[in-house]
Amino acid sequence: MGITPPRPLQQGDDLTAFDCGQSSLNKWLQNHAWRNQQTGASRTNVVCDNASGQIVGYVSLSSGSIERGAMKRGLRHGKPEIIPVTLLGQLAVDENFVGQNLGESLLYFALKTAFNMSKHVGTLGVMTHPLNENARQFYLRYGFEEIPGDQRGALLLRIKDIEASGF
Ligand SMILES: CC(C)(COP(=O)(O)OP(=O)(O)OC[C@H]1O[C@@H](n2cnc3c(N)ncnc32)[C@H](O)[C@@H]1OP(=O)(O)O)[C@@H](O)C(=O)NCCC(=O)NCCS
Repeated sequence: MGITPPRPLQQGDDLTAFDCGQSSLNKWLQNHAWRNQQTGASRTNVVCDNASGQIVGYVSLSSGSIERGAMKRGLRHGKPEIIPVTLLGQLAVDENFVGQNLGESLLYFALKTAFNMSKHVGTLGVMTHPLNENARQFYLRYGFEEIPGDQRGALLLRIKDIEASGF
């Protein structure tokens, strides 16, 4: 019983049974996650059901950037024109496993990973583009903030704030 801790996606993982109710996130896992894992374009970590071994949640991270002009006025000062960020590309939990804190655990794993990485590689924070209003509300709970000039509605949680919350 129970759920495994996050681990990197592996060759041979069954990607077909996962269903989070958002076809784009299901398809991304099936069609892109493993190729990206091989090329290094993104890194996906999964949590699995101990009993069946099936993937029940996943999160993917990569490097990204945001133009300084898109940031809130107060955050632009002293920053380069193109600001490095850690991109949380996808985070999803299988519909049969929602409401069991897996989404929160995967998010904490992503924030911890970004925070550790920030000690060695420059990144202003973790940026994500929520798929819809539901996903947006999920991230806002954890302190993500709007990037006002971003056309795709990006949200950002600064490393500074991750650190302040005790990571
Ligand atoms: C959004 C999603 C990741 C949440 O996963 P989950 O495992 O059900 O979430 P958790 O059980 O960890 O919830 C943690 C907390 O967030 C709250 N929460 C969950 N979904 C929420 C939402 N959409 N909006 C606001 N709060 C939400 C929970 O009530 C819980 O709060 P509580 O501890 O006070 O009860 C999941 O529903 C999902 O994968 N949805 C489809 C894919 C998607 O939209 N992904 C978003 C990224 S693009």
